[in-house]
Amino acid sequence: MKNSYPNLLCLRCLLCLLIFPTLFVKLPDLFQIPRLDNAYTAFQAWKRAIQSDPMEFTSNRSGPDVRNYSGLGLLTDLALIHLNSNRFSGTIPESFNNLQLLYELDLDNNLFTGFFPSVILSLPSLKFLDLRFNQFEDSVPSALFDLKLDALFINDNKFRSSIPDNMGNSPVYVIVLANNVLDGSIPSSPLSENFGEIKTLEQLHVSHNKLYGNIPASICSLPRLLNFTYSNNYLVETCPLSQVSW
Ligand SMILES: *[C@@H]1O[C@H](CO)[C@@H](O)[C@H](O)[C@H]1NC(C)=O
Ligand SMILES: *[C@@H]1O[C@H](CO)[C@@H](O)[C@H](O)[C@H]1NC(C)=O
Ligand SMILES: *[C@@H]1O[C@H](CO)[C@@H](O)[C@H](O)[C@H]1NC(C)=O
Repeated sequence: MKNSYPNLLCLRCLLCLLIFPTLFVKLPDLFQIPRLDNAYTAFQAWKRAIQSDPMEFTSNRSGPDVRNYSGLGLLTDLALIHLNSNRFSGTIPESFNNLQLLYELDLDNNLFTGFFPSVILSLPSLKFLDLRFNQFEDSVPSALFDLKLDALFINDNKFRSSIPDNMGNSPVYVIVLANNVLDGSIPSSPLSENFGEIKTLEQLHVSHNKLYGNIPASICSLPRLLNFTYSNNYLVETCPLSQVSW
């Protein structure tokens, strides 16, 4: 991911310490008291939503002062959440919509289930979204491609809709949709007509789905595309893809 948020770097270092349970430190007074009410609410919702937590990261989160909690500090000021590889299950709590500054959400490699978490679509600052290797199912919401994301990883889930027609609206560098059950064709109209924002796209991975039809010529004309993988679908190559791999 491109590191285009230098003003958040310090916060990032600090929050990384807070997020890893083994590196628990008490929150400094940087986070003043009014924030703690929201954080408490968000925390309790999160605790209720997680149905399975084999490593018991959330088990002792009770009491009104979240600064005493171990593990991640879920505050309204939080800019990053990395919860990858914890075997968490359940769904994503609605209280995540408190996280107005969240720009990186990584839930990679857990056992989260259910529909695409719609609360994610209301996070105004989100740039990096990684939901890969979970059990999310049903459709990929079109609003996802209207977010100003830099990177989108939803591969290795059970999404089974078509790819929304507005994919071309997304300003991302990387889209990875591989290893789902997506069907329909790769949308072409937004790509060919106005090229949307997606001119930035460098990596597009859709392999191992059930996509069919022609690969739109507009994909081949994406000016920055370096790597497009689409094997294990029913796609027909109709334009020169010599510069990209499959
Ligand atoms: C809470 O649980 C974690 C993980 O089991 C443990 O490391 C930590 O010491 C506990 N914290 C408190 C305040 O009991
Ligand atoms: C937080 O922990 C400190 C030190 O263990 C304790 O003195 C304080 O009462 C706790 N605060 C709350 C609200 O539980
Ligand atoms: C393209 O991406 C795929 C999937 O991430 C990767 O396995 C492959 O090595 C990449 N190819 C090139 C040329 O970078």
